Amino acid sequence: MLESLGRIQNPLVRGLTAAATVGSIVTFASAIAIGVTNPKDKAAYQWGVYAALLATGGGAALGLAYKGKVEQRSPQSASTLSIPNAATQDWKDWRNFVVVRKVKESEEITSFYLKPEDGNEIPGFQPGQFLTIKLEIPGQAKPVLRTYSLSDYPEPCDTYRLSIKREPAPRDLDVPPGLSSNFMHDRVQEGSVISAKPPSGKFVLDVRKSSPAVLVSNGVGITPTIAMAKACSRLNPNRPIWFLHGARDGRYHAFRDEVLHLAEQNPNLQVHFAYSRPRPEDEGQFHSTGYVDTALIQSLASQDAEFFLCGSPPFMNAIRKGLQEWGVPDVRVYFESFMKARTAPAVSVSPAPALDERAEIVFAKSDRTLPWESEHDSILEFAEANDLNPDYSCRAGICGTCMCRILEGEVEYQEEPTAAIAEGSVLICISKPKTSRVVLEL
Ligand SMILES: Cc1cc2nc3c(=O)[nH]c(=O)nc-3n(C[C@H](O)[C@H](O)[C@H](O)COP(=O)(O)OP(=O)(O)OC[C@H]3O[C@@H](n4cnc5c(N)ncnc54)[C@H](O)[C@@H]3O)c2cc1C
Ligand code: FES
Repeated sequence: MLESLGRIQNPLVRGLTAAATVGSIVTFASAIAIGVTNPKDKAAYQWGVYAALLATGGGAALGLAYKGKVEQRSPQSASTLSIPNAATQDWKDWRNFVVVRKVKESEEITSFYLKPEDGNEIPGFQPGQFLTIKLEIPGQAKPVLRTYSLSDYPEPCDTYRLSIKREPAPRDLDVPPGLSSNFMHDRVQEGSVISAKPPSGKFVLDVRKSSPAVLVSNGVGITPTIAMAKACSRLNPNRPIWFLHGARDGRYHAFRDEVLHLAEQNPNLQVHFAYSRPRPEDEGQFHSTGYVDTALIQSLASQDAEFFLCGSPPFMNAIRKGLQEWGVPDVRVYFESFMKARTAPAVSVSPAPALDERAEIVFAKSDRTLPWESEHDSILEFAEANDLNPDYSCRAGICGTCMCRILEGEVEYQEEPTAAIAEGSVLICISKPKTSRVVLEL
């Protein structure tokens, strides 16, 4: 009962509920006691009435005084909210984590709960950030690095959760299915150990703000948005949140119950699930048929909100265009594609200048000097074509995995980097040489 009481935020309603509950219980108990003992004695009835009145009053006082869980989670003022920052911790490079739980969330998505093998604390993170993990996959010449969003916001932060979609081979190509995601699904079990770098990433929701936030996702794009919804519900539940998610049908819809449970606890969290091809048995499990699009967003949310989008590139392109047409300024629209992330306003990329065809790139550690070939989209691609194997993960300037020191010359970015770049270093996955000689530490 106390737990249910604690969920009622209004003290008056809480008091009335407790009064009615405790009063009814005592009235009922008195009636039974009178019936069993001495039904003809008038004094017994009076005692019964006194007991019921006293219990009702006591219940009201208890209800008013009891603060319970929700009030403990009442919003902190912007100045007292502490936003964890993984970068401030000692953990800088790879650290081993044990998979302590593996949970199937949908037909395609499985979650992995990670605890540090060393048993020490782990840093908190900002909702929307990701981990870069390293997997030793048999048959691969070197460890495979990939980036996965943190899909939970635990309190206290003692576990990281990654939720990974199994990536099949594209239907029209004769290529192997996704390396890392299939290895995680098929070979990584509870007890397996994988390495990870500290949480990172700039696609984050600032829970301190009070303006409404609209979290829009489809498919596995739900992973950062569920962490955002949880963080906000916990740290700043007064902030209005719309959680809009699109899935094909119930089989492909991960975290349905988790999101609904969150919304039950947070009256300022509004949820809408759209199924594009619902099955008859999905009846009652979703709110609308079709895709999450700008028309749906307009019908539910307020135009002065901040918008956080994560999903497939066509989905996000369409919504981004629709938001622009609706008059939402780019500065209030934040994107993360699992191929490429950026914060609005959109980056205008100046076309790469004509490169000096005689440019050369020196890979210092590998002791190779190679003439640049302009058909390559990046120095990373060029290095791979020449049998060098630099580390990479996102190949989109997001994760920082490909960062290396530049010892001489300059590079030209083909798009605005999202990852933080250390001084004297460059991201080779999105850059080409700008000067006729570039020396990299690689
Ligand atoms: C910031 C960020 C956060 C992310 N968060 C998540 C998350 O929370 N959950 C999640 O599931 N994913 C997430 N991702 C995506 C994730 O990092 C991986 O890209 C994804 O799991 C696919 O990796 P893979 O190794 O399984 O596939 P890869 O081996 O990289 O293959 C990718 C696709 O290419 C195909 N392919 C293979 N070889 C070729 C070829 N020669 N030519 C053409 N196609 C080929 C594969 O069949 C597959 O379909 C995130 C990415 C970023 C950048
Ligand atoms: S591989 Fe992620 S930034 Fe280059």
